[in-house]
Amino acid sequence: MKKIKMIDLAAQNLEIRAEVEAALAEIHQNTAYVGGPQVEAFEREFADYLGVRHVIGVSSGTDALHLSLRALSIGAGDEVITTPMTFIATTEAILHAGATPVLVDVDPLTCNISPAAIRKYLENGRFRTANGPKAILPVHLYGAPAAMREINAIAAQYRLSVVEDACQAHGARVATDRGWVRAGTAGTLGCFSFYPGKNLGAWGEAGAVATNDAELAAQIARLRDHGRISHYAHADIGYNARLDALQAAVLRAKLKRLDRWNERRRAIATRYCELLADLDLVLPRDPADAESCYHLFVIRNAHRDAFRTALLTAQIECGIHYPIPLHLQSALKDCGYRHGDFPHSEAVADTVLSLPMHPHLTDGEVDRVVEVLDQVARQAAPGLDTAEAEVSPAVGREV
Ligand SMILES: Cc1ncc(COP(=O)(O)O)c(C=O)c1O
Repeated sequence: MKKIKMIDLAAQNLEIRAEVEAALAEIHQNTAYVGGPQVEAFEREFADYLGVRHVIGVSSGTDALHLSLRALSIGAGDEVITTPMTFIATTEAILHAGATPVLVDVDPLTCNISPAAIRKYLENGRFRTANGPKAILPVHLYGAPAAMREINAIAAQYRLSVVEDACQAHGARVATDRGWVRAGTAGTLGCFSFYPGKNLGAWGEAGAVATNDAELAAQIARLRDHGRISHYAHADIGYNARLDALQAAVLRAKLKRLDRWNERRRAIATRYCELLADLDLVLPRDPADAESCYHLFVIRNAHRDAFRTALLTAQIECGIHYPIPLHLQSALKDCGYRHGDFPHSEAVADTVLSLPMHPHLTDGEVDRVVEVLDQVARQAAPGLDTAEAEVSPAVGREV
């Protein structure tokens, strides 16, 4: 039986190969391997795509977040409010900047940071550090934008910066007071990862920061390049966090196809939702004020391990994003959080299952995934202890 992949980068490569080969020939000719015309062109093209004034290419999403916080002068004694349901890099960047990550729970319907929980923490006023909060760092989890209108309003009220972790949200859109905008352009700074498996993925490590603020853009551009203001003059202690020309060439080719690929992802999500509607699963749905780019298609069920085992047995790849919320990671034990601190995040981590999702997935493959899930649901139904089988009511019916 042919394996169904979670993501299929080889299929993407087939589409872009000729274009990238031509670009590589040019790079080998002019030998501008770090920075140079490819990087500058990608920065311009991605800025146009996002509808933002500045894009600064960097060497990873983690660096994008870290340099953003540094550019905002966020460091020791400062807090950054974020979510426990994310990849650890979000909090690594905060800690690398010297600041303290403050976690608040997610909204059980969206799995994204809860504006109500942010507000509660701020209103409470009992902060973890001397300076208190300086920024909110929402993550657009699975490609579905966080509630940016509410988050921006809270940030304005408390004079906080907003650094968006858009590492999973290339091309997603969200409603703001300025109208609908691309994820990563709704806050002060937007951070992107181009890790190969992302909707817009490089052939190695890469990332970018997007902003309309010229001063912050200049500061990030300096920090990524050893704090350089001219070849051997350095205004800051910076980093080697530059974007390679080879990665920029791949990203330029993929950027041209991003909207088409995201459209296909959305069509696949619609098909999954239609075909799975009758099963006892929590399905992802776009909230009214956001349009997901479906980096991942994540379902929820208390018996997700049974579904997962059946899929793997049927040669269908699947994943769990994420099995351990950040407050329970031993790497973050010094933050002082405990089991039970964020019940919605814990319920999400215990029930999520990511199905195959990529633009080259066929309708036939989607149908095969659905068939397996359907079989498990039917076999499991009579024997299920319903109290245990139900997803916690706190998690709700739809994401
Ligand atoms: C939500 C989130 N934040 C940050 C990162 C870090 O990006 P990178 O791996 O490019 O450093 C990722 C990448 O997986 C991510 O998914």
